[in-house]
Amino acid sequence: MAKTIIVSNRLPISLRHRNGKFEFKPSAGGLATGLGSIYKSGENIWIGWPGNTIEDPEQRAEIILELHELKMAPVFLSKEDVTKFYEGFSNETLWPAFHYFTQYIEYNPDHWESYREVNRKFCDAILKKADPDDTIWVHDYQLLLLPQMLREALPNATIAFFQHIPFPSYEIMRMIPWRQQLLEGVCGADLIGFHTYDDMRHFLSAVGRITGLSSESGYIQAENRIINVDSFPMGIDYGKFVKQAKSKKTQNIVKNFRNQVGDQKLILTIDRLDYSKGIPQRIHAFHDLLKDHKELHGKVSMIMIVVPSRDKVKSYKELREEIDLLVGRINAEYSTLNWVPVHYFYRSFPFEELSAFYSMSDIALVTPLRDGMNLVCKEYVASRGDQGGVLILSEMAGASKELRDAFLVNPNDREGVKTAIHQGLTLDESEQKTRMASMQEVLQRYDIFQWVKVFMDRLEHVKSKQNELTSK
Ligand code: F6P
Repeated sequence: MAKTIIVSNRLPISLRHRNGKFEFKPSAGGLATGLGSIYKSGENIWIGWPGNTIEDPEQRAEIILELHELKMAPVFLSKEDVTKFYEGFSNETLWPAFHYFTQYIEYNPDHWESYREVNRKFCDAILKKADPDDTIWVHDYQLLLLPQMLREALPNATIAFFQHIPFPSYEIMRMIPWRQQLLEGVCGADLIGFHTYDDMRHFLSAVGRITGLSSESGYIQAENRIINVDSFPMGIDYGKFVKQAKSKKTQNIVKNFRNQVGDQKLILTIDRLDYSKGIPQRIHAFHDLLKDHKELHGKVSMIMIVVPSRDKVKSYKELREEIDLLVGRINAEYSTLNWVPVHYFYRSFPFEELSAFYSMSDIALVTPLRDGMNLVCKEYVASRGDQGGVLILSEMAGASKELRDAFLVNPNDREGVKTAIHQGLTLDESEQKTRMASMQEVLQRYDIFQWVKVFMDRLEHVKSKQNELTSK
C-alpha cells in the first residue's frame, strides 16, 4: 500500500547530547501535532534534519535507530551545510526576500550551490524510503527545489508543497538571480499551498511571468500535468490551549505570577527573535504611550518574551543588540522602585507558563512587519476561557485575514499602535467578550486537524483529476 512521507527542514524533535548519550524531545508544536495522525500511522514517516551537526558514524547510527522508533528518519547536515544552506541561502537570501527585507538579502553563488546540494541530499534520503506511488508532502522555503527533484525520480508520486512563510510579489521575486530554478522546483508538486490568498496570487503571478507557465482558476498548466495552487490558512490545536488554560497547573501559575506583578495591566508580546516581527517598533509605540499617558505609569507593564533564534546570522545578532538597548532605555527612563515598564525575557518558556501568560494578559500585542500566518495570536485567543482580553494584531500577519475582530493595526504606524494599546486598555468587558467569542468560533472550527484534512482531501482530488486527464 502506498505510504505518506512528510518532509521538512527540521524534524519535529529537539536533540540534546547529555552524558555521552542523545536525548530526543518530540516537539509539541502545532504542526507536529496536526501531522501526527499522518506520520505516526502505518508505514508513514517524517524525514528531516535533527538539528545538530553530527559527523561521527557511530553517533549517526545511534540516532537513526532512535528516530526509527519515533517514525522519523534523519538527513544529516554538515557544518558547511548549516553555514551555507541553512544560515546562508535559506535565512540570508530567501527569508529576507520573502519577508520584504530587501536590504538584508545576500546574493552568494556559493550559498546557492549549497542550497541545491542540500535539497539533493533530502531527495536522496527520501528516495531510499519512497515507493513510486507514495505521497510526499514537502514543507517550507528551505526545500523549494525538492518537489521537482522528486518528480524527476518518481513521476507517478503524489507530491505536495506547503509554504509556511509569505510569498513575495513578483517585483521582489525577480531580484533573486535563481528565481526561475526556484519556481520550477516548487512546480514539481501536484498541489502547492500558502496561508493566504495574497501569497497564492503572488506565486501565480511570479510563475506566469518568470517561467511562462500559464494558469487559470488556480490551476497551472505544465507539460503533461496540472498543478493546483491555493490558500490553506493554518490553524492551531485549539482544544489543547483551551484545556491547558483551564488546568489547575496553569491557574496556580497565574496566581503565583499575579502575586509577583500585582494588579497592574499586562501587555504580552511573544516572538522568535526575528526582524520580521517588528519588536523595536513595538517598544517605540509603548514608549510613546508612557510619554503621553502619565496616568498609566505604575499601572501597566509589557511582558516581552523573545525566543532565541538563528543567532549566528548577522542581522539577528544586530537585532538582539538593538532590543537590549531599547529595553534598557525605556526602563531607565520610566522605572520606579516598585514598577518596571518592560519585563524582558530572552528565552523560551514551558507550555504551562506560556498558557498562564496568555490567560492573565489584558492585551496581546502581535505586530509583525510581515508574517506568513502567526500562531501566537491564535494561541492567545484560544487560551481565553473567560473571553476577556484584547488582541492587537498587525494587518501584515496572515492571521489578520481570519481574525477580523482583533484591533488591526499597521505595525509601521507608531501613533496607530499607541492608540490601539490605549483603546485596548480601556475597552469595556462586554466588547472584549463579543470580539473574543467571534474569534474563538473561527479558530475552533478551523483548527490544525481540519487544516490537515482539507489539504489532504484536496491533494487526493487534484491527483484524481490528473489521472482522469492522463487516461483520456
Ligand atoms: O515557519 C517558518 C520556519 O522557518 C519553519 O520552517 C521553521 O521550522 C521555524 O520557522 C523555525 O525556524 P528555524 O528552523 O530556522 O529555527
